[in-house]
Amino acid sequence: MARDGSYGPQDLDLKLPNSARLYDVFLGGDHNTAEDRSLAERIRLNAPRWSLGAQLNRSFLRRAVQYMVEQGIDQFLDLGSGIPTVGNVHEIAQQHNPDARVVYVDYEAVAYNTARTMLADNPNATILHADLRDPAAVLDHPDTRELLDFSRPVGLLVVGVLLFFSPEDRPGELVRAYREQLVPGSYLAISQASDDDLPPDLQSEIDQVVASYERANEQLTLRDYDEVASWFAGTELVEPGLVHYPDWRSEDEELDDVQLSCRYGYVGVGRVS
Ligand SMILES: C[S@@+](CC[C@H](N)C(=O)[O-])C[C@H]1O[C@@H](n2cnc3c(N)ncnc32)[C@H](O)[C@@H]1O
Repeated sequence: MARDGSYGPQDLDLKLPNSARLYDVFLGGDHNTAEDRSLAERIRLNAPRWSLGAQLNRSFLRRAVQYMVEQGIDQFLDLGSGIPTVGNVHEIAQQHNPDARVVYVDYEAVAYNTARTMLADNPNATILHADLRDPAAVLDHPDTRELLDFSRPVGLLVVGVLLFFSPEDRPGELVRAYREQLVPGSYLAISQASDDDLPPDLQSEIDQVVASYERANEQLTLRDYDEVASWFAGTELVEPGLVHYPDWRSEDEELDDVQLSCRYGYVGVGRVS
């Protein structure tokens, strides 16, 4: 939830460090401000594995989309899609199938404007400037209805976003509201930060990250395994289940020991049953 409690698409605010732009810094992007970079640097110093985790999150997104494409999915709804960067969903999907369709949703102005410009000539992908906490605004939007056919399987991506939702945002109910629109054979991908069972050094890093995000537009909520697993109700988790970032089908990637130690989040993909 936005710090000021506001709801709906957010106006451009370049003064307050912003979660979308912090993520952009961690991924090496250039759509960020001096305020964003300063807070990102502080996080990097205190918790180097958090920025590494951002990259692992992004590669999970890529692997999840690739997996879904291999299962025949050719239309995606990407909630909290972020500022376009390396490996955007439409690029991954359309590389495999040029006709694949993607609807991105983000309420942050830089994410929306950058994606809108990038997608101007792409008839099969669009972005909504919308708050995903309003499923009707997303699902009933004319662009969503035009691009996505909900009578066929859809890939629903809720990656790297629910950690910014407080309990009052009722993330489980939100995921269910979207998932209920999906026919069997659709897929749901989720990632979520957690401090389950962390060794003391990593726990200390995560505590500092949570404290740092107090200065940003959105704060972090960590969650345990059972809560994240409950979000996959109505789906069957595909192998290897709900696991830490480095453990989800990362066989083709060379992960070093530091990356392998980034075990402060859960990722999974479920097949709608
Ligand atoms: C960390 S980025 C994740 C980007 C991408 N999903 C990924 O995993 O690479 C989170 C994005 O979610 C967006 N976001 C947060 N709350 C949102 C909301 N209520 N509605 C729409 N977008 C939201 C932020 O603006 C940000 O761009």
